[in-house]
Amino acid sequence: MQAIVQDRYGAAEVLESQDIDRPEIGEGEVLVRVRAASIHVGDVIVMTGSPFLVRLATGLRKPKNRVPGTDIAGTVEAVGKDVNGLRAGDDVFGWCTGGFAEYASASEDHFALKPANLTFDQAAAVGVSATTALQLLRDDGHLQPGDKVLINGASGSVGTFAVQIAEAFGAEVTGVCSTKNVELVRSIGADHVIDYTKEDFRKGGPRYDLILDNVGDRSMAATRRALTPDGMLLSNGGGHAGGALGRVIRLAIVSMFVRQQGKPSVKSQNRADLQVLKELVEAGKVQPVIAGTWPLREAPEAVGHVAAGHARGTVVIAIDPAAA
Ligand SMILES: NC(=O)c1ccc[n+]([C@@H]2O[C@H](COP(=O)([O-])OP(=O)(O)OC[C@H]3O[C@@H](n4cnc5c(N)ncnc54)[C@H](OP(=O)(O)O)[C@@H]3O)[C@@H](O)[C@H]2O)c1
Repeated sequence: MQAIVQDRYGAAEVLESQDIDRPEIGEGEVLVRVRAASIHVGDVIVMTGSPFLVRLATGLRKPKNRVPGTDIAGTVEAVGKDVNGLRAGDDVFGWCTGGFAEYASASEDHFALKPANLTFDQAAAVGVSATTALQLLRDDGHLQPGDKVLINGASGSVGTFAVQIAEAFGAEVTGVCSTKNVELVRSIGADHVIDYTKEDFRKGGPRYDLILDNVGDRSMAATRRALTPDGMLLSNGGGHAGGALGRVIRLAIVSMFVRQQGKPSVKSQNRADLQVLKELVEAGKVQPVIAGTWPLREAPEAVGHVAAGHARGTVVIAIDPAAA
């Protein structure tokens, strides 16, 4: 099968298209013919092996898993022993190891039936970014109906899901993005849109019960000034001094002493939340925003586009464009 493989860490050119064996399926696993995969910031981190500490998990000298990619949608090709919930021919979406390939295998628990109202491209986009947005708003932010929430970086992969999920939870949502994305952020349901090239939401203006900052373009202290007295800032992005790792360490320390600062957290995919997202999609409350679709052989360009940090929604790799 055709797959993208990576035998060293580095920029997008470390990704190569190769012909390799299909993955085996074990007990409780399914083999999925991948129709589309999507890319999230974690894929860029695994590709570069940076920050260095992630290599403790991904492989010290080179990636442990040769085939990158986690978020996929496709059709079940075969099922292993003791698989009860899925059958060959089912259209599914979910997560795996080695998603940038024509076939991938994973436990049946990693998949749910594809929402009927989504294409494979769209279903593949409902992955890590959507789960991150859901878990940040619901579990870390305890978002309540009527809360005033601001999403900084509303046009990105996490942001476009966060705007829609916050709206679905009954919040009053303000999205912050650049001029070219104002219409997009309004079209996915934001009640108010702030163009960051013209206005700084931290200077005067309304105060928010919850701010989800996917950008980290200013200090956490400056951003907390836009909160109500009981409000909370969830800092989910950006570098600051010391890069991404420095930000997480600083966040861990600050959140111990500052009540309004949410703790750092790594989000993880699970079947229950995949089901929650599926229901939001099927109810028409969440619609993935596709930043662009690349064929499998052009995965390096697609990952490079995400790495550049200006994607409008979620970047998709179509493994079989005719079916997407
Ligand atoms: N905690 C977790 O487990 C977890 C999981 C996934 C992601 N994340 C983090 O979440 C963050 C966002 O990820 P993402 O996938 O959504 O990124 P992304 O798709 O690259 O989106 C970034 C967006 O931010 C916008 N932006 C850039 N500068 C801005 C500014 N000054 N003000 C407002 N918007 C600005 C960009 O739009 P323009 O082109 O208009 O600038 C772009 O649309 C990342 O830092 C990532 O590490 C965390």
